[in-house]
This record gives sequence, structure tokens and C-alpha cells, in this order.
Amino acid sequence: MDVLIVDDAESVASRGFAFTRRCLDQKSDAVLGLATGGTPLALYALLVAAYDRGELTFDKVRSFNLDEYLGLSPDHPQSYSAYMQRELFGRIDIQSRNAQLPVCEDPEDVDEVCFDYEKQIIGAGGIDLQILGLGENGHIGFNEPASSLASRTRLKTLARGTLEANARFFHAGETQPVTAITMGIQTILDAREIVLMASGANKAAAVAGMIEGPVSAFCPASALQLHPSVTAIVDQDAASQLKLKGFYEWIALQNDRLGRSV
Ligand code: PGA
Repeated sequence: MDVLIVDDAESVASRGFAFTRRCLDQKSDAVLGLATGGTPLALYALLVAAYDRGELTFDKVRSFNLDEYLGLSPDHPQSYSAYMQRELFGRIDIQSRNAQLPVCEDPEDVDEVCFDYEKQIIGAGGIDLQILGLGENGHIGFNEPASSLASRTRLKTLARGTLEANARFFHAGETQPVTAITMGIQTILDAREIVLMASGANKAAAVAGMIEGPVSAFCPASALQLHPSVTAIVDQDAASQLKLKGFYEWIALQNDRLGRSV
């Protein structure tokens, strides 16, 4: 795993943007795996700004989001579908048919929705670049601790801590779903390249578990150690529990010197 330690959340977003732009420059019809939550907001703002400047087009891009709350209609303001529309899809030229999330409003057969999502990802040729955030408990997507490392898209019950962390996105009295359809850990590992972004001291334990801990369902993000092309972009606070922090900084310095950095 490549570990990039940067100053702050803003720098995390700008490095994440550089990876995304490189992917789109190399392949105009790239398939992106996208995340929601607080972390990717600044990245999406940078993508929108680059689109506004005429530097990027998403006309041929396809995207698959990691997850969606079960039972929320796509136009429910707290659905991830609405989030993506607000923050990215509605502000760039992506074709709406090419921007997918699991269909979670009253599905007749949840297993069928999950199976179909996997089929669509394969049909698109697989994910070229998967963007990830990181839960305080080490989750990626909504793969909470004890998720199978071989899991595929399925229905999951969210951990109490995840619900508490995400409660800030819901208004008082608004029902917060406790289940969601999420890509599985193996679905995520099938992406060709993965960029995980994390900032803040509240992510430090999860970052350490992901990068330096044992590969274990206890910290789902640790499964990324099994992937050949992962970059973890973390700020100083999120990196604060890394035992080999100086080593990662040394490697990044060498890569900068050799012009190998993205
Ligand atoms: P956050 O969530 O970006 O809102 O911190 C990340 C996650 O839970 O995966």
C-alpha cells in the first residue's frame, strides 16, 4: 500500500483529485467507484471546479456508488442518490444513466438488486478507480467490522457508532435507516486501483489498523493490504498512530525526487 501523509484535509482532497484526474486523462470512459460521507465532499468540489474550467468531461464516464440506504427514495434528501446529485452528478456532464447506485426504494427482492449491481459493474468492464472514505471503526463502504473479506454487494445492518457518526446528516425527527445495500469487500478489491482518503484524529486508530494491523474482518479496511494498487492519502492527524510514519514520509520524498508522484 502506498501511504501519502499530507498536511490537512484540504491537501487530502487535492491529492485525491490528482489521482482521479489522472484516471480520467488516461481513459475518458473510465468507470469510477464513488463514496459519500464528509470526506469526498472537497474532492467532488474540485472535480466540479475542473469541469467548470473545461479541464474535465464526464460525458463517457460511468460510476457506481459504494452504498445506499435501504428504503429511501432517490429524491429523499438524505439518500446517497440525492447527495451525489447535489454534490457531483447534477453539476457535471455525466449521463444520468451512467451514474449508478443500488436501487433501494422498496425493492421487491433485495438479493436480486445486489446481484444485479454486481452484474452491472462487471458489464461496465469493472471499476478502474475506486474512491473510499474510512469509518472510525475501519469500515469501507458499509462493510462494518466482522464483514466477510470475501463479501459482495448485499444488505448490511449499520453499527451503532456509524449511525451516530452519520446522524449529523439527518434533521431532528427524521428517520435514519439502519440498513443499507453496500458493495462487498471483495467487490471493492476487484477495482483496478483504489484511493482511500482519511483526515482527522478520529480516524487515526482505523488508519493504523488498515495499514499496519493484521488483515482481519475486525478492521475491514485492512483487506486493502491484499490489493496491489492502493494509495491511502491521510492527513497528519489521521496518520498520528502509524508506527512507521517516518518511513512512509521517506518513501514519498524519494518518489517526489524521482518524479514518480501523482
Ligand atoms: P466520513 O465517513 O467521510 O463522513 O468521515 C467515512 C465513512 O464512514 O466511510
